[in-house]
Amino acid sequence: MATSPLSVEVHNPYGRFRVISTKPMPGSRWINILVDAGCRVEVCTEKKTILSVADIKELIGSKCDGVIGQLTEDWGDELFAALKAAGGHAFSNMAVGYNNVNVEAATRNGVAVGNTPGVLTETTAELAAALTLAAARRVVEADSFMRAGKYDGWLPTLFIGNLLKGQTVGIIGAGRIGSAYARMMVEGFKMNVVYYDLYQATRLEKFVTAYGKFLESQGESPVTWKRVSTVEDVLRLADVVSLHPVLDKTTYHLINKDRLALMKKTAIIVNASRGPIIDEVALVQHLQANPEFRAALDVFEDEPYMKPGLSDLPNAVVVPHIASASKWTREGMATLAAANVAGKLKGCPVWHDANNVMPFLDESSKPPAASPSIVNAKNLGLKILTAAKL
Ligand SMILES: NC(=O)c1ccc[n+]([C@@H]2O[C@H](COP(=O)([O-])OP(=O)(O)OC[C@H]3O[C@@H](n4cnc5c(N)ncnc54)[C@H](O)[C@@H]3O)[C@@H](O)[C@H]2O)c1
Repeated sequence: MATSPLSVEVHNPYGRFRVISTKPMPGSRWINILVDAGCRVEVCTEKKTILSVADIKELIGSKCDGVIGQLTEDWGDELFAALKAAGGHAFSNMAVGYNNVNVEAATRNGVAVGNTPGVLTETTAELAAALTLAAARRVVEADSFMRAGKYDGWLPTLFIGNLLKGQTVGIIGAGRIGSAYARMMVEGFKMNVVYYDLYQATRLEKFVTAYGKFLESQGESPVTWKRVSTVEDVLRLADVVSLHPVLDKTTYHLINKDRLALMKKTAIIVNASRGPIIDEVALVQHLQANPEFRAALDVFEDEPYMKPGLSDLPNAVVVPHIASASKWTREGMATLAAANVAGKLKGCPVWHDANNVMPFLDESSKPPAASPSIVNAKNLGLKILTAAKL
């Protein structure tokens, strides 16, 4: 059996399938899923944070059936061809987004590409909400001020920020995470919603309507929703704009210099989706020119780097891509990624509903005999379960 000079930790050494995880992942359930499926699991424990294509090729070696990879890795033709040459046909990103994966190249090489939807939704939306509050109420600036020993007494003008209640939250990309975030801002802060998406967010609309009626029944002002037909409309109307679309050709630099100029001078922009959705150089210039405008960012255009000037700006809150970092979510992502690979290697069909993968996460029962989410299932001609057959 091929092994690699990069340091690895091996589980179930005599397993029939050889599966690589390019990183240690939280929890142990994911390892058990692969071991139960008859896999020898090799977890790369190399200290280096981001593995190169050459490193991963070395890990794949001459015999490898499946790989669990990370969003920091470049999964293109070279790696999928290497995996195919090693006899492999299963890959899963440990992420819901897969802009680091060339799905066409994977399909060409006969490799299934899994992702981990659903399990990140609430955790990511909660971080977007935390960033919104941090920016609105200047929490990070005030914390630094306090630690620097500058606080010498209460003042009527100290760290004045924005009240969220009754203001408008704008969502660009009202899918799973965008809608969950919108609900949090509606329920928590009675914000009105304006959104832009290619599709209608029917469940979100129904929720806001029903919640508005409930508030009215309590003698409070109702909350409202509005679907608009352009990104520009959201930017003009909203006091807070949170970005939640996928990253693809249509959303690259979706927020640029001209669009930032449409936003209110005291608005807040939040990004917990993918860095390149914002032209970060334009954002730095906008923040420099508009000190009352604020940004709160989990993701950056050139991760792990920030564009020059961003880290000096008091009106920006920056955190290192931690939106999905809750214990439950990270363990769940590992579980789904392992189930994607194990399901494909065992020849199981693909789960029918990527919006509901909860049966795979329920530890009290056996997971379904399926891969939870394979994004190129149709193109590979894989069997997809239908709800009726469950
Ligand atoms: N920061 C993090 O750690 C983190 C964690 C989870 C997800 N994410 C990112 O969040 C994204 C969304 O995740 P999700 O689970 O909500 O996905 P989703 O597929 O449910 O939602 C994405 C939404 O974007 C919409 N969309 C696509 N193109 C658009 C466009 N041009 N303009 C406006 N909307 C557009 C889609 O119609 C869809 O409703 C992921 O693709 C990922 O990149 C980041």
